[in-house]
Amino acid sequence: MVKSLYSKEVFEHFKHPRNLGKIKNPDAVGEAGNLLCGDVMRIYLKIKNNRIVDVKGEVLGCLVAIANTSMLTTMVKGKTLKEALKIRKEDLIKKLGGPEKVPPFKLHCSILALDALHEAIYNYLKQRKLPIPKELKERHLAIQKTLKIIEQRHKEFIEFEKNLFDESTQKIH
Ligand code: FES
Repeated sequence: MVKSLYSKEVFEHFKHPRNLGKIKNPDAVGEAGNLLCGDVMRIYLKIKNNRIVDVKGEVLGCLVAIANTSMLTTMVKGKTLKEALKIRKEDLIKKLGGPEKVPPFKLHCSILALDALHEAIYNYLKQRKLPIPKELKERHLAIQKTLKIIEQRHKEFIEFEKNLFDESTQKIH
């Protein structure tokens, strides 16, 4: 049933994700989250001469988010930072079987993967005091704002769960 909802590419990258995990001593890390689902993604980069020589991703998210992270890492490996920034959500979705194979309510999973990549590149440029494109700066501000809201929601949720637990233990005693 679930399988029929998605393309074979999505399913393949979900079942056998490429480049998942962390890079030891990365040159840059980027994190992004989605407000609607609360999912979070992290991208680690190793960069040499302005080129991405290694990339890994961590996902706290859905099947499509995992497939997107996996596919995106295969797409950016070996690319220059400029080339990597040119990848659009449409390119990613196309590689995953096209928009007709990704349900509309799952399109944001591709944006999440790209946001994490953009954040990693932003952080890399910032740390090295290199010029940052205007569009990337603006995206960075929006991503950070979203992450703050998600963090606050997580805190409230944990507090809610804790109170629920305390209440239920009191009733038992
Ligand atoms: S449902 Fe949120 S990233 Fe997929």
